[in-house]
This record gives sequence, structure tokens and C-alpha cells, in this order.
Amino acid sequence: MRVLVYPGSFDPVTNGHMDIIERASKICDKLIVAVLVNHSKTAAFTMEERIMMLKKAIGDRKNIEVHSFSGLLVDFMKSVNAKTIIKGLRAVSDFEYEMQMALLNRNLDNEIDTLFMMTSINNCFLSSSVVRELARIGAGIEDYVPHSIAPFIYEKFKKAGAE
Ligand code: PNS
Repeated sequence: MRVLVYPGSFDPVTNGHMDIIERASKICDKLIVAVLVNHSKTAAFTMEERIMMLKKAIGDRKNIEVHSFSGLLVDFMKSVNAKTIIKGLRAVSDFEYEMQMALLNRNLDNEIDTLFMMTSINNCFLSSSVVRELARIGAGIEDYVPHSIAPFIYEKFKKAGAE
């Protein structure tokens, strides 16, 4: 069984992530979306919120699971019996960091490989930080995140702004 692991912070999940999730799930038997437990205080959304948004966006697609992990990605990979990481690449600027991560992960465990998938052209400029920035200002995010979670993101930033 071919298992792919798509790791990230998903703070929050964007249409760019969903594009990779949808296309990656078609080239494997099981796709595991792995959400990193972020120990720094910079994460805007809690782990529970990030997982809830992912699950809502993914819906009932049968071969996709959402997990959380902390520590090393390669250790998580072992725990779910997976050997292949899938990552999205938006632009050449992503490449250097992703190459470093891919080589480091293979150095940590030489059975682990990383596959890269190009993001669709209309999502190339998109990132979680851009979505957070727009939502903080109160600007429209409907075109950039799954429709089912946009209201939740607005509410979160409205509450944070009121505090
Ligand atoms: O969405 P992000 O923040 O770009 O995702 C980064 C992520 C989660 C893929 C990366 O930080 C990661 O794999 N962290 C787990 C810790 C680890 O394995 N570190 C060694 C490689 S740097």
C-alpha cells in the first residue's frame, strides 16, 4: 500500500494546501496529513482548531487521514509505516528550504524520500501567513481558503482583535 505523508503547520489550511491534498490523494492509497504540534507561541490557531479546519475542508474523502505529530517527522513516518513525504512547491524561492529539509530527513533516515508537487498557478502567491494577515485586517479571504472554514477564521480574528 502506498502511503504518502503531507506534513505542515496548516495555520490555517489554505486552497493551496487543499490543491496538493486533492492531487496527492489520487496518486496513493492513503494520504496522511500530518499537523506539526507547534511549540512556539506564534501559531494563530490551536492544534484542535487546525485539525478541525482540515477535517471540515477534507470532508468524507475516504483515503485521507489527519494526524498530529511532535518531534521529528521521520519518527512520525516510522510510527505510521510510511516512507514517502509529499510537499508542495510554489516557486523557486521555496526550493532551497525544501531541499534542505528533504536532504536532512533522508540523512536522518535513508529510507525516507520526499516528492514535490507543483502548486497550481492560481495558488502560487498563497500562504497561511497571507491568509492570517488578510483576516486580521478584515479583508476578504473567501477566495483563498475552503468555503466551509472561512467564517471560523474571521470569527477567530474578530475575537482576537477584541481582546
Ligand atoms: O507548513 P510548514 O510550517 O512549512 O511545515 C514545516 C514542517 C512541519 C514540514 C517541518 O517543520 C517539519 O517537518 N518539522 C518537524 C520536525 C523535524 O522533523 N525537523 C527536522 C527537519 S527540519
